[in-house]
Amino acid sequence: MQHFISLADLTPTQLQSYLDLADELKAEWKQGGNKPILAGKSLAMLFQKPSLRTRVSFEMGMQHLGGHAVYIAPTEVGLGKRESVADIARVLSGYVDGIMARVFSHEHIVGLAQYASVPVINGLSDYNHPAQALSDLFTIREALGRLQGVRLVFVGDGNNVATSLMFGGALTGMDVTVVTPAGYEPQPAVVQQARELAAQSGAVIQVAHDPQTAVAGADVIYTDVWTSMGQEEEKQKRLATFAAGYQINEALLTASGHADVKVMHCLPAHRGEEITDAVADSPNSLLWIQAENRMHAQKAILARLIGQA
Ligand code: CP
Ligand code: NVA
Repeated sequence: MQHFISLADLTPTQLQSYLDLADELKAEWKQGGNKPILAGKSLAMLFQKPSLRTRVSFEMGMQHLGGHAVYIAPTEVGLGKRESVADIARVLSGYVDGIMARVFSHEHIVGLAQYASVPVINGLSDYNHPAQALSDLFTIREALGRLQGVRLVFVGDGNNVATSLMFGGALTGMDVTVVTPAGYEPQPAVVQQARELAAQSGAVIQVAHDPQTAVAGADVIYTDVWTSMGQEEEKQKRLATFAAGYQINEALLTASGHADVKVMHCLPAHRGEEITDAVADSPNSLLWIQAENRMHAQKAILARLIGQA
């Protein structure tokens, strides 16, 4: 049984193949529509947290491929509370051909995959966000024509999105530097694993603390919210800490020394916090194509895991 839980589970070849399939499916869609390769197939979409992009892009992805998606709201299932993760996995496996889940604890994704007899797709956990990073690699490759040797600098919290970008960079030869305030670095085990994965591609994976120097020479500057879902009680402290230099603004773009530096954000954006309006809406911004590409890249996941493409 193949699942989509972490980019670190993929070989470089498998990851490239997802990107190539996404290219094909996007081109096919732009030429008038996808073939119904998932006709009669269904996806359960289990959410413990809110979502705009993940929910709608997976749902439309299923629909474009001829399949059907069922949304299950955070209040409905009570993952691990109303019913055990194992039982939910077993029950859903009898109804649907795949399960996409957005959870707090990554262990719940792992547990769903352990007990489901259908593929499980990680739609974000507290640990990582692999569907996001796959789409982002797709967007960068589309915008810059390559991944090998691209320099991506992630400015902000060493969070779930940063983790998946490090794994994705490591597998594709894209250098990733994560710049955070002290105490908000990615987990050491993640950095170590990303560096091991990078051995083959030669990608340089770094952690830094000074955004002004770290962005010098960057091709892509990436940011995410300072307070992730589930960390709301830390919001005031985080706001004060990250406001001290970790905002993507015009001065930081200038510090890259690269007039055409691309700006990315997984969204939702807290404008005026981690990114300014001027930057989010600048010609450097890839934000809207990045969001659209979630749908195209995730179609590759659906086609491969549910449709065996
Ligand atoms: N980027 C992302 O996953 O957005 P949503 O939280 O809206 O799904
Ligand atoms: N790091 C953010 C990403 C949202 C898509 C969060 O976990 O809330």
